[in-house]
Amino acid sequence: MPIVRTVPTRAALSAAAAEYFVETAAEAVRMHGRFTVALSGGATPNNVYALLATKPFRSRVSWPAVHVFWGDERCVPPDDPRSNYRAGYEMLLSHVPIPSANVHRMRGEIDPPDGAAQYEAELRTHFATSTGAPRFAPRERFDLTLLGVGLDGHTASLFPDGTAINERTRWVSPDYARSASTWRLTLTLPVINASARVLFLLSGEEKRPIARRILNASNDGAPLPAQRVDPVEGEMVWLVDTAAYELSPPR
Ligand code: 6PG
Repeated sequence: MPIVRTVPTRAALSAAAAEYFVETAAEAVRMHGRFTVALSGGATPNNVYALLATKPFRSRVSWPAVHVFWGDERCVPPDDPRSNYRAGYEMLLSHVPIPSANVHRMRGEIDPPDGAAQYEAELRTHFATSTGAPRFAPRERFDLTLLGVGLDGHTASLFPDGTAINERTRWVSPDYARSASTWRLTLTLPVINASARVLFLLSGEEKRPIARRILNASNDGAPLPAQRVDPVEGEMVWLVDTAAYELSPPR
């Protein structure tokens, strides 16, 4: 069962997420010498990235031991305002001493199948797993995967009406997001669910309906992509502000 933590405001959510990132990074570096994280796109994590780039969080991370990937990317050039890479770089990575070789950008600007195949190859090299499913071992999986949730229950770029949600062997897949009329690249469930930790960020009044549907485990209809994230041997935390969700008081 996921851990659901509610906080009173978006600012509190960002601070709690930054703290979770820093603590997870410190534990991973202590345990196996590096911290591999998949950043989320969307607007919710931007304040988290900005916090991580400033005191006191910035100096608490061993940035030379950090490897940053993305959970998904829009198929646009890296300098496009819609690029998840651009947001992460501008809000965080350009402000911290992370080696450029440790920033693993999805190449959204090339043909989507090629971009997906190239990213999967890079990920497999990083995790020393040239073939087969991800393994649940240190240095062979994400130490932390950050995720958001769309109003339709998508996460990363795994959409309810897409094909990538059903991918069982590839680690990275292209998909066409009808709702956004754009091609995307996304990590798939096999690699997301191999993560040691998954942190969902959910904020704002507009997310109340989807938060209720997911967190109240209402099983009306097929499970949404965000409901199919379930780390096989890992921890999952839903960090939500009270505008999006309030834990019902114990009966
Ligand atoms: C993206 C994200 C996507 C996002 C959700 C929530 O590329 O847009 O990966 O899955 O996390 O759509 O977005 P907000 O945080 O902007 O609500």
